[in-house]
Amino acid sequence: MSTDTRPVPEPAPEIVEQWRAEGVGLVELLARAQRSVGGLAGLRLGPTPTVLVTDPAAVQHVLGRHPDRYVKRSHRARMLVGDGVLSATGDPWKRQRRLLQSQFTGTGMRRYERRIAAAAHRTAERWEGYLRTGETFDVAEEMRRFALDTVWRALTGLPLDDRTDHELRSVERVVAAMPKLPTDAADARDAVAADLARIDAVARAAIEAARAADPAEEPGVLRVLIDAGEQYPEYTDTLIRDELVTLLVAGHETTATTLTWLFLLLDRHPEARTADPQALVNETLRLYPSAWLLPRHAVEDDVIAGHRIAAGTDVLVCPYLTHRDPALWPDPERFDPGRFAAGPDRPGRLGAYIPFGLGARACLGTQFALRETTALLELLLPMGELVFHSKPEGAAYSITVRPDGPTPAMLRRHPERP
Ligand code: HEM
Repeated sequence: MSTDTRPVPEPAPEIVEQWRAEGVGLVELLARAQRSVGGLAGLRLGPTPTVLVTDPAAVQHVLGRHPDRYVKRSHRARMLVGDGVLSATGDPWKRQRRLLQSQFTGTGMRRYERRIAAAAHRTAERWEGYLRTGETFDVAEEMRRFALDTVWRALTGLPLDDRTDHELRSVERVVAAMPKLPTDAADARDAVAADLARIDAVARAAIEAARAADPAEEPGVLRVLIDAGEQYPEYTDTLIRDELVTLLVAGHETTATTLTWLFLLLDRHPEARTADPQALVNETLRLYPSAWLLPRHAVEDDVIAGHRIAAGTDVLVCPYLTHRDPALWPDPERFDPGRFAAGPDRPGRLGAYIPFGLGARACLGTQFALRETTALLELLLPMGELVFHSKPEGAAYSITVRPDGPTPAMLRRHPERP
């Protein structure tokens, strides 16, 4: 390694100690580290050295240019998503990604447009009902149902039925329990065994149904995976189950929380109600990128912008902090969808806007997520406006960043529209 490299700057240990003594949460700790030493900040969070990466060029280095040096480890997630594309690495990941990519981009993606539209219409019909009755409903719950229905239709070709919806609550329970589960893999599985069994049963039934489906019907992702099994022996029922659960996990809470934040932000900024749905989604994802922290592990020694990163370092890319950096985003705390209106000032710097990550492991469902969110907003926004009975005070930072309380609301017709 060249001798003119420097260690990654870090805040003085006694200062970090003081922050900890104040009891600040992880996101605040990371924000303070960034403010005190910059976009590449060393931190001692535990026995493993940790580096926070928020500078766009460093983000590009880690996620974009050297995904082989900074790898995912996903120990905990593996219990739920197994060897699915989210947690797989190396050659198996490449093959799995290639197969799914053909479904979620270009012409593959266009096949799902109709299913996305059907899910959006189903939610809009429910909202028409709320408009008529004036009843109170929970916005986050509505968005959860919509996002799950959409991804379920893409996977199976079928609308989400109440029973499956109920059984799939287990997915959220396992995801919510994950950060607090025992480190031992077997103990962790035991702690959520009943939920895992329910998820497996849903997956088994869905795979059987897809296998029995009329081949003349337009195939969903599951059918594509089953067909792949005829050609590639690695697509066993276990791997198909893992991909199914992976897509459910990766593709529903992210979309649902984004839409929930969007409605909460619109409540605070009524002037933005006429903005273009796509700009609304982009700006919501800037302030609340649901995957707010992207952890990697350095598997070899490296140098980022003249700073040494030793093999074995945990590297935390943090879209949330990059998106709120005043050096990159003027008045960053302000919700302003106008930032994303087409024009010369549109933010373009690679690595500065990363709600879907970057590089080889960027979100597989980017187009799907943008299509489903805008399709729903195009139907819901003209219908009326939400009147929240109460609103969450802040955000809960776990695997995703979500509103930290319930979101009861009723729907009222726009005053200016009869
Ligand atoms: C607003 C909604 C969404 C957001 C903000 C989001 C964000 C992300 C991010 C940041 C990553 C990269 C994680 C990392 O680098 O560690 C990712 C990966 C992934 N996302 Fe999404 N996502 C969304 C919706 C979806 C949807 C709808 C699907 C599928 C239907 C999906 C499927 C995936 C998969 C499979 C991966 C793993 C890709 C790989 O490792 O090769 N996501 N997502």
